[in-house]
Formats: sequence, C-alpha cells, structure tokens
Amino acid sequence: MLVDGHGRKVNYLRVSVTERCNFRCQYCMPEKPFSWVPKENLLSFEDLFLFIKVAIDEGVDKIRITGGEPLLRKDLAKFIKMIHEYKSGLDLALTTNAFLLKECAADLKDAGLARINISLDSLKPEIAAKVAQKDVLKKVMQGIDAALHVGLKVKINTVPLKGINDGELIDLLEFAKNKGMQIRFIEYMENTHAKQLLLGLKSHEIKDNIAQKYAFQEVARESNSPAQMYELADGYRFGIIDPHKHDFCEDCNRIRLTAEGMLIPCLYFDEAMSIKDAVQKGDVQGASAILKEVLQNKPEKNRWSNDAQNETSQRAFYQTGG
Ligand code: 5AD
Ligand code: SF4
Repeated sequence: MLVDGHGRKVNYLRVSVTERCNFRCQYCMPEKPFSWVPKENLLSFEDLFLFIKVAIDEGVDKIRITGGEPLLRKDLAKFIKMIHEYKSGLDLALTTNAFLLKECAADLKDAGLARINISLDSLKPEIAAKVAQKDVLKKVMQGIDAALHVGLKVKINTVPLKGINDGELIDLLEFAKNKGMQIRFIEYMENTHAKQLLLGLKSHEIKDNIAQKYAFQEVARESNSPAQMYELADGYRFGIIDPHKHDFCEDCNRIRLTAEGMLIPCLYFDEAMSIKDAVQKGDVQGASAILKEVLQNKPEKNRWSNDAQNETSQRAFYQTGG
C-alpha cells in the first residue's frame, strides 16, 4: 500500500500519454503551445508500462489514461491491453474529447477498458465550436454513441463558463440522463494557459442553475472522489467538482505521470520528479524510490481556494489531463 506524507492512501495513477490535442479548449489551451514537446522526448509505451507495473505492484489499483488527447497516440488500445493483462480487476479508465472515439471505441473495449470520461461543454454546434475553437460537436456525439454502443460506462465532464454555456446546464444534464450517463460539472480551475478573462461558475451558481428546473438533494460524497454528488427526485445523480473547496484534497488518492515521465503529486503545483532515466534503464528499484519520494512530498492541499489572492495555477492541464 502507498501512503503519502500526510497519511493519505494513494491508489490512483493518472497517466498522460501525450500533451498534444486536436482541440483548443479555452479553459485549457486556447492556442497551440509555442512548441510541443518533441515526439522523441515522449516515453514509449514500454517505458510507461514499466512504471505502471511498479505502481501496481506497490498498490495502485486504479489507472486513468489522459492527455492532451490520448486517442491521438497510435496504438493506444494495445497499451491499454498491456495494462489490463498485467492485472485483472484493475479499474482502467480513459478521459477523451471523443473526437476520434467512433473509430476506436470497440478496440478500446476489447482491450479491457471499462470506463470513459468524455468532455462535453455544449449541445449547440456553434457553442461547442467556440469552446473547443474547432467544429467538433458532430464527431463528439458520434463518439459518445459509439462508446455507449460497445458497452463502455460513460461519464460526461462539463466546465460551466459564464456567458458561454451557462444557459445549457439543464439541457446537458437531461442529455446525459436520457442516455444513462452521469454528468459532472467541473468548476473552471484558473491557470495561466487558459484564455484570459474566462469566468467559471462556482458550485453554488451551478446548483442555482439546475435548481431552476429540478429539486435535488446532496448525497454523501464517495470517498476519494472529487465530485460532490446530488440526487434528483427520480434517483438520477449528477456531480459537481469544486477544487476551490478543501474537502477535495483531504482524501486525495492520486498522482499523475506526464507523457515525458514527470511524476506530479498535485495538479495545482509545479513540483514534479522525472522517472524517465529510471524506466529507460529498466531500473525498477529506482522508479519505486522516486514514486515514494514524490508521495512523501505530496502537498496537503491546492491553492485555488485562496480566493482573496486569486490564485492561479501555472500548470498546463494539457500535460496532466486535468
Ligand atoms: N478547469 C476545469 N476543468 C478543466 N479541464 C481541463 N482544463 C480545465 C480547467 N482549466 C477538464 C475538462 C476535461 C478534462 C480533461 O479536464 O473538463 O474534461
Ligand atoms: Fe484538448 Fe482536453 Fe485541453 Fe480541450 S481540455 S484542449 S480537449 S486537452
């Protein structure tokens, strides 16, 4: 079992397989970064897999593949299969914008993927295009349907933004509900890579928005989940992720690995350590030692909650997959 310096059990590893993305979501990456990390700096799937095996052997039992956009990386289904076959019963999930999902949903499912989170910020083509800065909605919808069709469990992630999609939160909730998907509204997390002047809805504003049509009750937060869940009268549950509140951090169980091999203890802070040399040398003990050092130094909480100081993270979400 892995335990961090604050006594929290860590069993969840998020692995970004590329920082590249075919979208330019305003809250994440409004323009293409000045330069992408050169492809040769990326860890191969074999190298990433070596670290994943170390982490699993030490107690990680939940892995999420993220990006950038992970489906841009060739042979992703093979990588997922490698992980799935290493340990059955692993909770193996993927976060994607779904643009390329229609073509590979079946392969991903066959490879052992169980769950998928899809970003969907609007049901209107022009607003979806405004957020992603590309005409994306049709392909995203096809991706969602393909995922449901092959039997993947799908969750929808929506970032509510003032003056952009805040008139559609109920429609998005109903869309998700009608397709049997959970929706989670994620508070915009201020970061220096996002488009300036972007304003996110805070959780109380999201709740007020939904309350215009539906009554709902707060239900106990599942442990280790950053989402506060709410239940409608008919039993449907939706979530709100509020990183500006600290109960989010109290039972944080996760660490993140970037496509270049940086192991990141907290989404907010810049601190990280590289596992690249260790995995490229096949040094299992070295990789394990770095994992433990990073856990020892995992911060107690993020700083988004310091409202008065208007804290903004320097970290790029396209490197950590959110
Ligand atoms: N604030 C909140 N959520 C974000 N995401 C990306 N950037 C941000 C941000 N600045 C979320 C998107 C996407 C997931 C990969 O990360 O909702 O679904
Ligand atoms: Fe790409 Fe996801 Fe960032 Fe949008 S939020 S630009 S889909 S990495």
